[in-house]
Amino acid sequence: MISKTTISKILDSAQIVDVISDFVSLRRRGANYTACCPFHNEKTPSFSVSPSKGIFKCFGCGKAGNAVNFVMEHEHLTYVEALRFLGRKYGIEVEEREESEAEIQQRLKSESLLVVTAFAQEFYSNALWNSQRGRAIGLSYFKERGFDEETIKKFQLGWAPEGRDGSMSSAAMRAGYKKEFIVSTGLGIEKEESGDVADRFYERVMFPIHSLTGRIIAFGGRTLRTDKSVAKYINSPESEIYSKSRSLYGIFFAKSAIARLQKCYLVEGYTDVISLVQSGVENVVASSGTSLTSEQIRLIRRFAPQVTILYDSDAAGIKASLRGIDMLLEEGLQVKVVLFPDGDDPDSYARKSTPAQLKDYLQNAERDFIEFKIELLSADADKDPIKRRQLINEVITSISVIPDAITRAVYIEECSIKLKFEQNLLAREVNKLRKVRHPYGGYQQQESYSESGLPSSIPDINTGEQLPQFVRNIYCEPAERDLLYYLMKFGECPLYGKDDEIQSAITVSQFILIELQNDELEFQNLLYKNIFEEYYKLREAGQQEIQKHFTNHQDSKVVEVVTSILIQEHNLNIKQFVAALVPEENVLSMVVPKAIMVYKAKITAIAYQELREEMIKLKPGDDMRQTELLGQLQTLMNVRNQLSKELNRLTI
Ligand code: CTP
Ligand code: MN
Repeated sequence: MISKTTISKILDSAQIVDVISDFVSLRRRGANYTACCPFHNEKTPSFSVSPSKGIFKCFGCGKAGNAVNFVMEHEHLTYVEALRFLGRKYGIEVEEREESEAEIQQRLKSESLLVVTAFAQEFYSNALWNSQRGRAIGLSYFKERGFDEETIKKFQLGWAPEGRDGSMSSAAMRAGYKKEFIVSTGLGIEKEESGDVADRFYERVMFPIHSLTGRIIAFGGRTLRTDKSVAKYINSPESEIYSKSRSLYGIFFAKSAIARLQKCYLVEGYTDVISLVQSGVENVVASSGTSLTSEQIRLIRRFAPQVTILYDSDAAGIKASLRGIDMLLEEGLQVKVVLFPDGDDPDSYARKSTPAQLKDYLQNAERDFIEFKIELLSADADKDPIKRRQLINEVITSISVIPDAITRAVYIEECSIKLKFEQNLLAREVNKLRKVRHPYGGYQQQESYSESGLPSSIPDINTGEQLPQFVRNIYCEPAERDLLYYLMKFGECPLYGKDDEIQSAITVSQFILIELQNDELEFQNLLYKNIFEEYYKLREAGQQEIQKHFTNHQDSKVVEVVTSILIQEHNLNIKQFVAALVPEENVLSMVVPKAIMVYKAKITAIAYQELREEMIKLKPGDDMRQTELLGQLQTLMNVRNQLSKELNRLTI
């Protein structure tokens, strides 16, 4: 943990232009600097750096943040790692804050396990290269498979000697590592009766599994026996340092290439990764035999928007995995597929071709996933109407999970041609499925305000259930963001302008606070709510430069929201030509109360909807409650009308 004072020293010295210039060549344009964005591919620059605000933003891909965020993103570092990086750059000694007892214990434990796995890797590699049987069995096996020495060293492959007498574990204990930690890594297994420690891995070639930062967190071991009673692979169990669902084999070696090429190849096994890398395809990871998890998918998405799955031609295997691939689509990744010729998997294909042939093949055989799925399933669907219906179902399922509406529309158009199925019908089916998956998906998009500024009324949901929280979130988000916008940009400006008679009696932040407190309103969106509350805490504590506090915030989600607000020229609800005529500061007394009204109108609409739901569910005969509800509905109606009038008055 880095101390607060060190963090602020680093933040103060890290001039954003200076930091970014180490990685990107910036050109001056007015007060700002621009460049082609390092985070996505582009030909005309949409990446902008503001030295005065200390922030960057790409108008192409939307990435935004401060100097620390830039380093995190560009170098794939954690927050703390990025601070250390900048500390080194500016010669600031990084003072570590004292950790809590629990933090220390956790870190020490993980650290202790990581030194054991590092020891084990050396032990296994040493056995591979230097023991007689290691060389005769393990090393010659790897070489027969076509791995050259450089590759074997790069992936730190090894040999676990035969005999279960605990040769790795006892060597570790002799070297001073504690039994407890050896057992916790899963490399040693404690025998109940004697308390002796046996090795989990013996007589196997060893594949260490690396974390994102290159430390060894687990192992896979392959037997060389062909006898079916021995498991082909065994793997380390889950531990403090290894979560199977969150790791991808090869990610440490692949991450830069994935980010550079904006594409990740996904294969099944250890040997596929190693063979491809040896043949010059570096952007490849393996899911290690299990189906993909959403954590693994997000890990990939941190580096690239596209995944290409490499399949061997085992048709049954492919069909079984189709559903899992929908998850990739659902996470917003572009998914492509490469199918290898009969009998080949990526490993064997890489081995029998030259690197150039392999690259060609990967390029030419790559197909869009949904297209591929149609072809795969339409083989026997041509004449059989039931099979055809199934095929269409499969396709609309895949399309319906894609989060981006435009991408969905493109697919619908293409698939309607491929399936010879009417486009509108296809679109309707996709929407139906989306409703089932996201029952309130109909208004997930940012809604636009009607002329009067009154939000369109909340759609009916006749399920007889309470409005779920996420619906309220979505419905209120634009209004809450507006309030946050005025708070962040103009919080300490006088609401009525400098020259007004009421002479700066009240600031924007005070006005917003009073308005919300009077009606006991709290933001629905938790992130906004936290920022909002933190703002007032800082203000109360007399903090200057509150904006800077947020653009340098430790929570990168906070930085992203605040940065994108600060970089906005004017509030999007103000018409362009109006914004050009009057500086926003001069109309705060109009626009801020209006934003409050819009927000309240939304809250009222939600309350109204909820009362109506209750009415619908009301048992016949409960007259008391019914009268009560009608009264409340009437009140809300009046409030709504009142708000509507006020809003019309406030419309510029
Ligand atoms: N796997 C596993 N446990 C098994 C079998 C497989 O964990 N009992 C995982 C391994 O990560 C393996 C991957 O699934 O790499 C793919 O399995 P397979 O194709 O059988 O292995 P290969 O890596 O292709 O190994 P080889 O080429 O040596 O057969
Ligand atoms: Mn294989």
